[in-house]
Amino acid sequence: MRTYRWRPRAFWPLCTLALVVAALPPWAGAPHAQPAAEGAAAARGEYLFHASGGCRCHTDGKNQGAPMAGGRSIKTPFGTLYSTNITPDRETGIGTWSDADFVRAMREGTGPDGRHFFPVFPYTSFTRMTDQDLRDVKAYLFSLKAVSQPNRPPEMSPPFGWRFPLRYWKWLNLEIGVLVADPNRSEEWNRGRYLAEAVAHCGECHTPRNLIGALRPAMLDAGSAEGPEGELAPNITPDRDTGIGTWRERDLVYFLETGIKADGDDVQGLMAEVIDHGYKYMTGADRKAIAVYLQSLPPIRNKVVAKPKPGK
Ligand code: HEC
Repeated sequence: MRTYRWRPRAFWPLCTLALVVAALPPWAGAPHAQPAAEGAAAARGEYLFHASGGCRCHTDGKNQGAPMAGGRSIKTPFGTLYSTNITPDRETGIGTWSDADFVRAMREGTGPDGRHFFPVFPYTSFTRMTDQDLRDVKAYLFSLKAVSQPNRPPEMSPPFGWRFPLRYWKWLNLEIGVLVADPNRSEEWNRGRYLAEAVAHCGECHTPRNLIGALRPAMLDAGSAEGPEGELAPNITPDRDTGIGTWRERDLVYFLETGIKADGDDVQGLMAEVIDHGYKYMTGADRKAIAVYLQSLPPIRNKVVAKPKPGK
């Protein structure tokens, strides 16, 4: 894990090197240097893509939609939104986005045209990822097949469907910036926190939200009755009665690979999807790091009860 400490002495020679390299004519390197570097970035990006849960929200699996072409409906308390096309198609996808555009979208929730994204796109977590990791994810997405499929506008009633208030929403709720490692904790714990809070974005589903749809930081991972798609996301803090305090570390590691809970039941819904299409491809060490981090969280007593469905 990086420490993000400011090291002026190492920084300037690196900058100079970067400038020199950038100034070299394109034919100065080995003939295939560029594609090899891109391939390595895409491979690193593929790992992070899986660690993020496989971006399943961007595939309309129910209607046999093409991977990452968007169009999947996502129900929220504020209305229904449709995920967007994140294939490298130049007209309907993100094919014209630069690295900087992509990093800005993930870190600030702002598109290249200046539009603010609805926070159903979990940029409040992705903002914690490093620039390098974000660029690698982009390299992977750009290695996928471009699919032409126009985006569908959200179906939300005013004022929730308006984008301009999102500027204020972000001002209140979005803390832009990379997660800083805690030097008092182990490397494993820091890796686990980075994965859980930034990449795998566990808290986006497992943390309850306030009236304006923002995560309540004091209730991190304490469970949400109204997760995405209206699904109940249980309390995953180590509280013994209302959370997963009775799970052993190895139960969690096994769960993140197989979806089998400590009591032997199969997990359902969105959690099954993020495991199947993502988390299970993480290394055992990374799944263990997440478990170590989760078990270190303060136990929060919070019994999450499903909201009654309308008409029942
Ligand atoms: C897209 C939303 C989403 C994300 C992201 C997500 N979860 Fe879940 N999780 C759920 C839902 C919904 C359930 C309940 C599934 C069920 O009822 O079978 C669940 C269930 C669980 C359970 C079972 C708890 C129990 O008491 O049965 C654990 C443990 C868990 N998640 C851990 C995690 C961890 C760790 C992460 C991040 C690495 C994560 N989840 C990311 C939505 C999510």
